[in-house]
Amino acid sequence: MNKVTIMDHPLIQHKIGIMRVKTTSTKEFRDLVAEVAMLICYEATRNLPLADIEIETPLTKTTAKEIAGKKLCVVPILRAGLHMADGILNLIPNAKVGHIGMYRNEETLEPVEYFCKLPKDAAEREIFVVDPMCATGGSAAAAINQLKKRGITKIHFLCLIAAPEGIEALQKAHPDVDIYVGAMDERLNENGYILPGLGDAGDRIYGTK
Ligand code: PRP
Ligand code: URA
Repeated sequence: MNKVTIMDHPLIQHKIGIMRVKTTSTKEFRDLVAEVAMLICYEATRNLPLADIEIETPLTKTTAKEIAGKKLCVVPILRAGLHMADGILNLIPNAKVGHIGMYRNEETLEPVEYFCKLPKDAAEREIFVVDPMCATGGSAAAAINQLKKRGITKIHFLCLIAAPEGIEALQKAHPDVDIYVGAMDERLNENGYILPGLGDAGDRIYGTK
């Protein structure tokens, strides 16, 4: 079974607390999405392999470390995942970026895919799928299905807020994907929104409501 890491770092909890407040501005909310994504990414990349390299400091020759291979790729689920990707690229600027467009049918809550564009060599890369919200888990599971159909195997999923129902569904659908969650909330409401949650992440990032 996959590993689910729920972030308990005080900075993450503090920043997510501000995001939940309904009067937090669009600009502040957007900045926080990127910041929290960067902090979660710090944990999600903990086990990346390192290689020794010989370097010269101003004083002497020595052996230092570098990330081996450097074959990383961030895949935001549109729309709301885009700002998470921006935050993560601050930490791993050489990562490639793929995009998966997905929205939930508001009545059935089923994910509808409308776009998928990935780097040509995505199957050789370690992939970080990012979306602020994991509610029913349907969008994340469908996005990961798309990646697997294209031969991608090394997949991590990062979200800011999840419902227990969504994480359980995602684990069942993809037991091989490690999951990183900023905060695990209580439950879904009757409309499939996370409680207490933060509302509609896409609308809050882009000011569309
Ligand atoms: C939101 C969110 C996830 C999805 C989560 O996107 O960003 O993609 O809902 O719900 P689920 O776990 O039940 O699938 P939304 O459908 O609102 O699209 P948007 O990002 O374009 O606003
Ligand atoms: N999508 C969101 O943006 N928020 C939720 O609470 C659930 C799905």
